[in-house]
Amino acid sequence: MNASAQQNVFVIHHPLVQHKLTLMRNKETSTSSFRRLMNEVSMLMAYEVTHDMAMQEIEIETPLERMKSRVIDGKKLVFVSILRAGNGILEGMLSVIPGARVGHIGLYRDPKTLGAVEYYCKMPQNMNQRDVIVIDPMLATGHTAVAAIERIKEFKPKSIKFVCLVSCPEGISAVHQIYPDVAIYTASIDRQLNEHAYIVPGLGDAGDRIFGTK
Ligand code: URA
Repeated sequence: MNASAQQNVFVIHHPLVQHKLTLMRNKETSTSSFRRLMNEVSMLMAYEVTHDMAMQEIEIETPLERMKSRVIDGKKLVFVSILRAGNGILEGMLSVIPGARVGHIGLYRDPKTLGAVEYYCKMPQNMNQRDVIVIDPMLATGHTAVAAIERIKEFKPKSIKFVCLVSCPEGISAVHQIYPDVAIYTASIDRQLNEHAYIVPGLGDAGDRIFGTK
């Protein structure tokens, strides 16, 4: 795996991932390019986060002889997209693992309490037999990630991993203080959060940049 690990955090150093992330950070990058890059980088992150996926042996016949060979069971995997920016990662991940199931979770921040409030949650059936990969491009304060993980844990999945393109020390600590068992895969741990809870240097608002809403 082309990633370095410490305390259940895996930073993906692959040159293709880092190159695409640099292009995405650039404020001159257009919405269409940003979306295409998000798609491409998501495929590459899918490759890293599934490096230890369970496999099974099946018997097949090549044009020359019978053999046993290994396959994954994509149906056991669930991508849970945190709305709305998580959907920017979803397409790329599904193009690599088309058999995966998909859950969605929608949370907004209550302006008074600043707590995460759920407005949507739909998961596939039999979650207790599945491995979950939670996807959200930015791990900022960690409040949304923690609320999403808490909710997903109610479905008792076999495992939970979290994938984001950009993270920061504050977000990683917030998640791991409560859920140290959740492995975090990220292309970068940026310097810090600013006073508006944006990651700096970051790439701005991922949702706005994916969907062109600003
Ligand atoms: N969400 C974003 O889209 N960007 C940030 O920098 C922080 C949260």
